[in-house]
Amino acid sequence: MKEFTLKNENGIEMVVSDFGGIVRQLRVPDRDGRFDDVVLGFDAIESYFDGSPYFGALVGRYGNRIAKGGFSLDGRAYTLAKNNGENHLHGGIQGFDKQVWKTERIEGEGFTGLVLKYRSEDGEEGYPGNLDVAVAYKLTNANEWIIEYKAVVDQSTVVNLTQHAYFNLRGHSAGDILGHELVLEADGFTPTDDTLIPTGEIRSVEGSPFDFRTSCVIGERIDDADTQLEQAGGYDHNFVLNKSSSGALERAALVYEPESGRTMEVLTTEPGVQFYSGNFLDGSAIGKRGTAYASRSGLCLETQHFPDSPNQPQFPSTRLDPGDVYVSTTVYRFGSR
Ligand code: GLA
Repeated sequence: MKEFTLKNENGIEMVVSDFGGIVRQLRVPDRDGRFDDVVLGFDAIESYFDGSPYFGALVGRYGNRIAKGGFSLDGRAYTLAKNNGENHLHGGIQGFDKQVWKTERIEGEGFTGLVLKYRSEDGEEGYPGNLDVAVAYKLTNANEWIIEYKAVVDQSTVVNLTQHAYFNLRGHSAGDILGHELVLEADGFTPTDDTLIPTGEIRSVEGSPFDFRTSCVIGERIDDADTQLEQAGGYDHNFVLNKSSSGALERAALVYEPESGRTMEVLTTEPGVQFYSGNFLDGSAIGKRGTAYASRSGLCLETQHFPDSPNQPQFPSTRLDPGDVYVSTTVYRFGSR
């Protein structure tokens, strides 16, 4: 296994493993120019082999859940692992987060980066078709981490790729993320059943703890008496992004951490983003420098198509056919104020 350090002109540093495409460190400055590692993770690469809650990893072939571990395509049923209760989660038992990717360094105008490639074979984790995936990570001098996903297949399949970094803009070991302020550019979200599968409804966020259209402190409403929050133990929901046109690269989220002054803007071409407030962390994962990551000590903004889309024809399609190219771009832009 190999590890790569990407560094930009402003001293931002990112350490990436070819195992799972995991971003192991990301050091960004606060408002006084002090650098901290703002992503949760482990010191030893072996700790990611088993039992990592997807810290920093590339997730595929299908990010988030597929109900009851199955779907049909053109009348054929496909069976997937039920690795999350009765549902399928994040591509199965040996998802893309547990594969060793081929890597190649890239350089260009204003950025340094890495291309990660992986062939997911026909039948792997139950999915049809040989899928060739290429993901570019670019670290730009504008303090952006750009992720460009591409995939092609030789048989119809479903694809939904994402990145599962857990951020804490105060620093990975600084405690909970409840004081972070969040904007989500979403008028709606997809409520779920108690196994976190979307019911199919797209519900307005208006007047609910899911309304982040203007900046809100994450901790302010997270423990409200709201069935959706109670079921998930906090936020773990797909937000339906407001888009000027389908596939436009537009702002999905803005995070501000008042103590450090750090900001993170998220832009994406995807129609959705899973805002996960790290509810399932329970202190049992001993991370970098011995940090026990307690509940809500990191937050994820996983850009994506909606969970369970293969079984929900009214959602934007995650189908990929031979001859078509899956493309998706997400940008995490760092700053401070
Ligand atoms: C996603 C899911 C969560 C959880 C985490 C990993 O965010 O939606 O429910 O599975 O990944 O623990």
